[in-house]
Amino acid sequence: MRTCAAGPVSSARLRDGYPRRVLKLVVLISGTGSNLRALLEASEDAEFPARVVAIGADRDCEGLALGEEFGIPAFTVPFTAYDSRDEWGDALIEQVRAWGADLVILSGLMRLVPPAVVDAFSPDLINTHPAYLPEFPGAHGVRDALAAGATETGASLIVVDNSVDGGPIIAQERVPILPGDTESTLHDRIKPVERRLLIQAVIDIANSHLDLKELAAS
Ligand code: GAR
Repeated sequence: MRTCAAGPVSSARLRDGYPRRVLKLVVLISGTGSNLRALLEASEDAEFPARVVAIGADRDCEGLALGEEFGIPAFTVPFTAYDSRDEWGDALIEQVRAWGADLVILSGLMRLVPPAVVDAFSPDLINTHPAYLPEFPGAHGVRDALAAGATETGASLIVVDNSVDGGPIIAQERVPILPGDTESTLHDRIKPVERRLLIQAVIDIANSHLDLKELAAS
């Protein structure tokens, strides 16, 4: 097991005599967690103003192993163990709240969260999406861009609301679609852009250069 460079998490840390905010992140995943890995690696820099305090998943998935690798607690709230999306959402809320997160990141969580989850955490609930929203929302953003014959797509970071990927846009960037691209090659080109947008947004939120409440209200 790798030691966690994060150390004890505090909501403030002294820097140049001024309190500095260190965000507690809970990251929710369904898949490989490569964007989560980027966040965990960024957190190894003592200057990074956030720490992942827990990793959550809606199913057994590869990304959960990052918990052990980085010494971060991981939990699963299996979607299929509940009778309804609402019940699953209530269980998820309980788990996430237990970690006192300042920011909840859906980083490849392939489930729509029910309204109670949005009410509980938004606007401090953000989602990465592998397309230039509002283009190609939903579970197959990469595949849909290719199927549409688009020549470019993108990466977006949004505040989660009760729509499907229709929340306020925090950041987004275009990514070209190249001749011969497959879903896999295109997704591999999009993910590094998602990571950069996500990490920069976390820094900006922690340093009060980005106000999610203001964004969500505008
Ligand atoms: C990311 O591209 C993320 O934006 C996408 O799943 C991928 C997860 O990759 N999310 C969605 O499509 C949500 N609609 P990862 O598990 O390797 O980080």
